[in-house]
Amino acid sequence: MTSPVRLALLGCGTVGSEVVRLLHEQSADLAARIGAPLEIAGIAVRRLGRDRGDLPVDPALFTTDPLGLIKSDDVDVVVEVVGGIEPARGWLVEALRAGKSVVTANKALLAEDGAALHDAAAEGGGDLYYEASVAGAIPLLRPLRESLHGDRINRVTGIVNGTTNFILSAMDATGAGFAEALEEATELGYAEADPTADVEGFDAAAKAAILASLAFHTRVGAADVHREGITEVTAADVASAKAMGCTIKLLCIAARGADATGRETVSVRVHPAMIPLSHPLAGVGDAFNAVFVEAEAAGQLMFYGRGAGGAPTASAVLGDVVAVARNRLAGVRAASESAYADLAVRPMGEALTRYHISLDVADRPGVLAAVAGVFARHDVSIATVRQGPAGGGAAGRGEDADLVIVTHVAPDAALAATVRELRGLDIVRSVASVLRVEGGL
Ligand code: NDP
Ligand code: HSE
Repeated sequence: MTSPVRLALLGCGTVGSEVVRLLHEQSADLAARIGAPLEIAGIAVRRLGRDRGDLPVDPALFTTDPLGLIKSDDVDVVVEVVGGIEPARGWLVEALRAGKSVVTANKALLAEDGAALHDAAAEGGGDLYYEASVAGAIPLLRPLRESLHGDRINRVTGIVNGTTNFILSAMDATGAGFAEALEEATELGYAEADPTADVEGFDAAAKAAILASLAFHTRVGAADVHREGITEVTAADVASAKAMGCTIKLLCIAARGADATGRETVSVRVHPAMIPLSHPLAGVGDAFNAVFVEAEAAGQLMFYGRGAGGAPTASAVLGDVVAVARNRLAGVRAASESAYADLAVRPMGEALTRYHISLDVADRPGVLAAVAGVFARHDVSIATVRQGPAGGGAAGRGEDADLVIVTHVAPDAALAATVRELRGLDIVRSVASVLRVEGGL
């Protein structure tokens, strides 16, 4: 057998420790699949003294000098499972420029400055693989960047954040409020001590940027993604969705479309949305992820599985390690970044969406007509209207009434302007909730 492929592992936390365990447990199989054994040259961590349980690795391999490890001639492949923008960006650019191959799970860095990594890989001639960065264990990026390269992808719709899917699923199942469901997610170890990146949609937005870049051959960064989290979703919204045969999910949606001049563009957004129970993503519960891809020739494809956790994520990391190790032995590199289409990213205001709007209005003649007039002024067509007594009680004429309006598809800016004007009407006591609707109703 040929000489070993030597790995520098940066990070040995939730994901890194599982990478170490899998490398140990499957060493013979991995060597057979690659044609050479994999060896850990060193493991960079922040705290040398941290208790790492009975990790099957020589303690002498740990170091607090990641750059020294990366620069070592002895290292062929750098596996980064630390996270964050800096110092990870500096490490990976250094490694790639030096011709090493890199495997990373760092979605935040890829979405913030994937260009720096791709450019460095092109300069150094090594591989850059990042399957674990989106949807954990689910083989998704490889199909997008290889298997579907003969096709034209039109739309990618996904649930790509496990923590928020757990929270929304719990709210749906038990009627709990957001805070209560977040507490449960934290107790079960899904949500981080600081859950901001998850519940405010930053994590999903980073993943949306990565998916859109691959699907549309265009560099899309985190700043291009319209982002809304789930902190404003209430138990009443969930109940209202249920009453309409829907559920609420935090969706990432990346879609081709034309702008006002007919030029082809992409729109990329992350926000909570009502989807009908018949939608393929509606049944994705707990902390699972799923991504629905619509392509011209392939039609509809669905990818489903565990999007987070040490072992599932390590599975994706190891798959990449095998691929880059094989490439190095064969003296080849994978196809480089494909960004030739260079499509413009459409502003959110131009995205075509539908709204579900709950209003608390005065219950008197002419109110419905006045409300309908606001929609008409903004060229937004109403699909359905449901009116009941305020608070959903027994029918009858009282002071206030609840009005639930679902629109047809319209530009998001027109819908937002409609809601703004509704808020200013004296007959509208309050706009109780505004949710986008996806996937037909
Ligand atoms: P952890 O916080 O569990 O682990 C981070 C590791 O990085 C620790 O070993 C830590 O050292 C080390 N580290 C932190 N700062 C430095 C530094 N300055 N120098 C050297 N080492 C450092 O993170 P995760 O394992 O959860 O996540 C790793 C990456 O994988 C992130 O990019 C994350 O987004 C991504 N990811 C995570 C998933 C998950 O389910 N956890 C799923 C998909 C992707 P020490 O051990 O000494 O603290
Ligand atoms: N915090 C992320 C999630 C981890 O909940 O999906 C996986 O990327």
